[in-house]
Amino acid sequence: MVIVNTIDINPLLLNSSCAWSSDLHQLTELYDAPYTGAVTTRTATLAGFPEDDAIHTVAFAADALTTINSYGYSPHPLEQYLIWVEAILAAHAQSTKPIIISITASDPTTLHGMLAAIQDLRARLGDATSAPSRIAVELNTSCPNIPGAPPSGYTFSSLQPLLRVLAAAHAGDPTLTLGLKLPPYTFRAQFADALAGLRALDAPCPIAFLTCTNTLGNALLFADEAGAFAVPTAVGGVAGDSLHALALGNVYTFRQLLATADARDAGLGGIKIIGVGGVTSRAAAARMMQAGADVVACATLFGKEGVRAFEILGKE
Ligand SMILES: Cc1cc2nc3c(=O)[nH]c(=O)nc-3n(C[C@H](O)[C@H](O)[C@H](O)COP(=O)(O)O)c2cc1C
Repeated sequence: MVIVNTIDINPLLLNSSCAWSSDLHQLTELYDAPYTGAVTTRTATLAGFPEDDAIHTVAFAADALTTINSYGYSPHPLEQYLIWVEAILAAHAQSTKPIIISITASDPTTLHGMLAAIQDLRARLGDATSAPSRIAVELNTSCPNIPGAPPSGYTFSSLQPLLRVLAAAHAGDPTLTLGLKLPPYTFRAQFADALAGLRALDAPCPIAFLTCTNTLGNALLFADEAGAFAVPTAVGGVAGDSLHALALGNVYTFRQLLATADARDAGLGGIKIIGVGGVTSRAAAARMMQAGADVVACATLFGKEGVRAFEILGKE
């Protein structure tokens, strides 16, 4: 079991936010699965993302457990997720399994409103006063597929206004468990920038966990030898086996940097890492832990196997 601020993840396995954690049926199945220690919803925006079946999709590679996807965010608005999360938690009143609500916003006012709506739900459920809490929030800073909106996780300076909103929410209620979903970084200064961005907040760090990593953007897979693209946009975010080494490197580098005296002095030493990227077997999950993850998560294996994925990864 791992305590992440006020939530308790046990076993140390969950789905990462994805198209297969999009609706009530999928979320309920994930919640009911004995090998998930938490559930992450698909990323919601305030109003819902205009999904277009002709553009937004996922494809599996033929020769490896790799996906490419061109999805944006969930078509369902945050309000819908709050109704579903309330229904699932109400139906499982005795369970301590948490649900991580993945959200994104491009401006502080919208993010503030979204957090307020989540806090209203937590207040209705008594989530701030029960131990452990059953609701956490992951801010997705890393979707590579949104035209005109590059992933803010690559430029921590652009993320500061949103981080300040998170810091204010956490200062108002330290029981609110907050995390960041980060993009895959490829050189060391990017990791240092991310941690410098958290230190620059001039407030106790509101971030309890980092989820590393999202898909690697601008990848291309062909569907066949004739040269048809695997997704209609040609390029998209690659995940699964093809992402694994980079995801391990991201988890490892954050683990090293968070263990430095500097990071500990800045109050970042307790940040937990959810390792994601190519966790497609028990060996891959073990490598994620060896690299420094506290908890591991998967999307591609879950997309292929359904909730059996967690049995594959978690069964002794
Ligand atoms: C079809 C699909 C949809 C995804 N949608 C989201 C999303 O809505 N929000 C998010 O933070 N990550 C999303 N991701 C990224 C995954 O959470 C994960 O970070 C990435 O796929 C790497 O893990 P994997 O190798 O186990 O697939 C998506 C991935 C896939 C394959």
